[in-house]
Amino acid sequence: MFENLIVSIDNGIAVVTINREKALNALNTATMLELRRFFAEDALKITGLKGVVITGAGEKAFVAGADITEFKSLNAAEGAAFARQGQGVFFLIEHFSKPVVAAVNGFALGGGCELAMACHLRVAGEKAKFGQPEVNLGIIPGYGGTQRLIQYIGKTKAAELLMTADIIGAIEAHELGLVNYVVPLGEEVSKAKELIEKIAMKAPVAISKIIDSINAYFDKETDGFEAELRAFGECCDTEDFREGAAAFVEKRKPEFKGK
Ligand code: COA
Repeated sequence: MFENLIVSIDNGIAVVTINREKALNALNTATMLELRRFFAEDALKITGLKGVVITGAGEKAFVAGADITEFKSLNAAEGAAFARQGQGVFFLIEHFSKPVVAAVNGFALGGGCELAMACHLRVAGEKAKFGQPEVNLGIIPGYGGTQRLIQYIGKTKAAELLMTADIIGAIEAHELGLVNYVVPLGEEVSKAKELIEKIAMKAPVAISKIIDSINAYFDKETDGFEAELRAFGECCDTEDFREGAAAFVEKRKPEFKGK
């Protein structure tokens, strides 16, 4: 079904493994198109989907960047189109209605760091490494890295990492607020699944509205407070809100249906 992704579904959680281990899972165009297809089409057809984990094949890399061999001879117009296409795929992930968690098992550099940042949450293995080393190549991040890194860690440190190309470890990434959890090597995917299971206990429509509202904060054309109150109103119209409120009053666990 996919050439560069392995997708496995276990108990309602899809684990998407970027599977180009020999190239440290570098994102070539074919892989980006497959990611687009997964999030725009395939994932929507999975019955009872609770969320998606993204990880990399092998022990060395999550994703070591966009595939340098593919974009090394682009001109200005081609380069902008290349970046636009990548940004579009990562927007899809960021706006996906169910939680998407990056399980960062190794190098998350360039496009790999950008992919992790497009996910809603990040779990890092203790040997994970993060960085935006594009200036070493004479380019800058093109898949949203200059924007999202500031969102996560603030302008001061983001400017330093973007300009020095320094690579940081999992502990520092955690201290900076780039990742949610650091776990022992090999436990990245199970921790990511645990987070998705926890979120799956909540009302699915409310979770999708949380995702929308967080995204609204960063959308310069949207008034986040306005977006929040509209989303709040939409939640009020759901069966799950009636169930959640009734369960609270009756002192029992709610049974949400996602409606
Ligand atoms: N694009 C294409 N191929 C890549 C790649 C990328 N972003 N990152 C790694 N690879 C390939 C290497 O070319 C090498 O292929 P080869 O075996 O055919 O020579 C293979 O993956 C293994 O990488 P190698 O560099 O030999 O491993 P290493 O352990 O010495 O170094 C890294 C690991 C991650 C530090 C190093 O590969 C690297 O710096 N990669 C590029 C990171 C980067 O600049 N990303 C941003 C791109 S915009």
